[in-house]
Amino acid sequence: MSVADRDPQTQEALTRTETARGQVSRSKGAMPLLSVEHLVKNFGPVRAVNDVSLDLFEGEVVGLVGDNGAGKSTLLSILTGYHHADSGVFRYRGEVVAHTSPSSSRRALKIEMIYQHLDLAPDLPVWQNLFLAEERRKFKIFLDKRWMRQRAAEVLGELGSKVKPDDLVGALSGGEQQVVAISRALLFERDIVLMDEPTAAISLNKVRDVLDLIMRLRGLGKTVVLVSHRLEDILEVADRIVILRRGTIAQILHNDHQMSVSELARMMFEDVVHSGVGISDGESVAEENR
Ligand SMILES: Nc1ncnc2c1ncn2[C@@H]1O[C@H](COP(=O)(O)OP(=O)(O)OP(=O)(O)O)[C@@H](O)[C@H]1O
Ligand SMILES: [Mg+2]
Repeated sequence: MSVADRDPQTQEALTRTETARGQVSRSKGAMPLLSVEHLVKNFGPVRAVNDVSLDLFEGEVVGLVGDNGAGKSTLLSILTGYHHADSGVFRYRGEVVAHTSPSSSRRALKIEMIYQHLDLAPDLPVWQNLFLAEERRKFKIFLDKRWMRQRAAEVLGELGSKVKPDDLVGALSGGEQQVVAISRALLFERDIVLMDEPTAAISLNKVRDVLDLIMRLRGLGKTVVLVSHRLEDILEVADRIVILRRGTIAQILHNDHQMSVSELARMMFEDVVHSGVGISDGESVAEENR
């Protein structure tokens, strides 16, 4: 398809993509917080992630979108160490990291994942959930409950939440449970928070709270990768939007907050990568950044 064949709206959106490319190259001096290079993940004959290269920068929200089966969750699960990439390189602040497990994800890549079905213990209070498996002990023996309760209250306060350390998690709303899950990122000083469909399991009137929470995390200098089928949410909070298609980054857009949901949806489903228009594909954007 030639440029002239495109309808004006798509053409306008593509022009903005060119701008996005320019903006990315202008940030050339900035060191990415996390870089993944040439990630590949196969499930038998299915190539779920196909040569993905992406840089994440401090204090940005990256919206990751794509059709069902595009590879979004797989990409996140590689970052969390749940799945191993078949090949690929991980860099944290420029240094290559041997990332092989959930532990290297948390400790070396400073990643916290907020799961679609929040992995919280409903019968335990908030503070205990926050420190689950990472308890602080006095003299390496006794649980330092006082300190943990106090830290819990501090981070909940930082996130502007009314949730209290002694509240039972099972009695909290879905949105409040998200706050608890996200608090762990602050407690353990993770830099990057991954969220896979955080608004799928909560009532519509709580979506606002989650989006506010994302903006608050960004304000605290955290990097958020948000996977969502709710494109209006992505367009509201994302600084950049990564479109995945069949395991490959089809495009990386700078979000100028002018794009409509239908424009973004069109770009998600339209096969623009091989159209010869010369817009930025994900890899060349990542390459420009180096
Ligand atoms: N554990 C697995 N075993 C085999 N195939 C898998 C596994 N996980 C994902 N896949 C396949 O990998 C591809 C990417 O799936 P993935 O779940 O990452 O997509 P997604 O973009 O998150 O989709 P959705 O929007 O539906 O959540 C799909 O073809 C899927 O069937
Ligand atoms: Mg998924």
